[in-house]
Amino acid sequence: MLRQNLEELRGKALQAVRDARDAAALETIRVGFLGKKGELTAILKRMGSLSPDERPSVGAFANDVRAAVESALESASGRIAEKELERRLAEETVDVTLPGNPFRAGRRHPMQTVLDDVTKIFLGMGFSVAEGPEVETTYYCFDALNHSPDHPARDPQDTFYFDDETILRTQTSSVQIRVMEKEKPPIRIISPGRTYRKDEIDATHSAHFHQIEGLAVDKGITMADLKGALHTMMTGLYGSGVKLRFRPHHFPYTEPSAEVDLQCFACQGKGCRMCKDEGWIEMLGSGMVHPAVLERCGVDPDVYSGFAFGVGIERLTLMRYKINDMRLLYENDVRFLRQF
Ligand code: DAH
Repeated sequence: MLRQNLEELRGKALQAVRDARDAAALETIRVGFLGKKGELTAILKRMGSLSPDERPSVGAFANDVRAAVESALESASGRIAEKELERRLAEETVDVTLPGNPFRAGRRHPMQTVLDDVTKIFLGMGFSVAEGPEVETTYYCFDALNHSPDHPARDPQDTFYFDDETILRTQTSSVQIRVMEKEKPPIRIISPGRTYRKDEIDATHSAHFHQIEGLAVDKGITMADLKGALHTMMTGLYGSGVKLRFRPHHFPYTEPSAEVDLQCFACQGKGCRMCKDEGWIEMLGSGMVHPAVLERCGVDPDVYSGFAFGVGIERLTLMRYKINDMRLLYENDVRFLRQF
């Protein structure tokens, strides 16, 4: 009787295993037949009703049944796992021939391009890059640069003041002083950065703009070195055909001082709308560092001389790309920026 029950159970269990489609179904079969409250256990509990000489052989047979069901379960679980893997491989394949998602790379802002080019040109001439603070004292921005106490540049109408002695720098020239205080000649630096003035914003003005300062201090530096350096910068930026004009000017911290104009590309100096009929376009201020400035920084003017210049990055950029309104540089309109 029990042997027959066991045989039926084996048949039923093996069929169920063959029919199982997933791991959960196998687990249900295992629990249902082999678990503590399973059918095999129920049959074994009835072993007590057998005669002692029947018991060993039925017991052995019960073990065979258990082993058969267990091994069927095991190989079925391997088969199901393999099927599952095949299904996922088929379903989850990546079609590498599909077009990718378009990736729009950014690019350098035209002012950054100009700054990078100027930096490269000056690094090539042995200059290095110095930095100075945008929040500056009136000492570094004005006093040390020889501005008289009543110099108009100090006017709170033109300069942003935090307090009597703290301002947003109006020019990068303040970095000249900071560098000369720290370093002994020979000095060759450029210093790019932001500058601030209380200007109404229009096509050629902004309350926030950018300059590159240049300073070279060494024995025997002359105006010829200044001209050579600026000529190298301008030909590097605008091509070998550029013409520079040095015009006498006044800055408190240079003597002599010069403003430097570039001959108008548009009309070759004949005069047109771009240069307002001048034939020349004003680009920057420069000169030979004033002996009093050197002295204040502990540099002996009888031994050393230097040249300095300051140029607006906006101006350089507008000229380079023939842009007629400075505001375009600040608006970050990608339709505009994408052109460069
Ligand atoms: N700081 C001047 C300006 O903002 C530019 C300038 C002129 C810088 C002469 C210099 C210089 O270093 O020597 O307009």
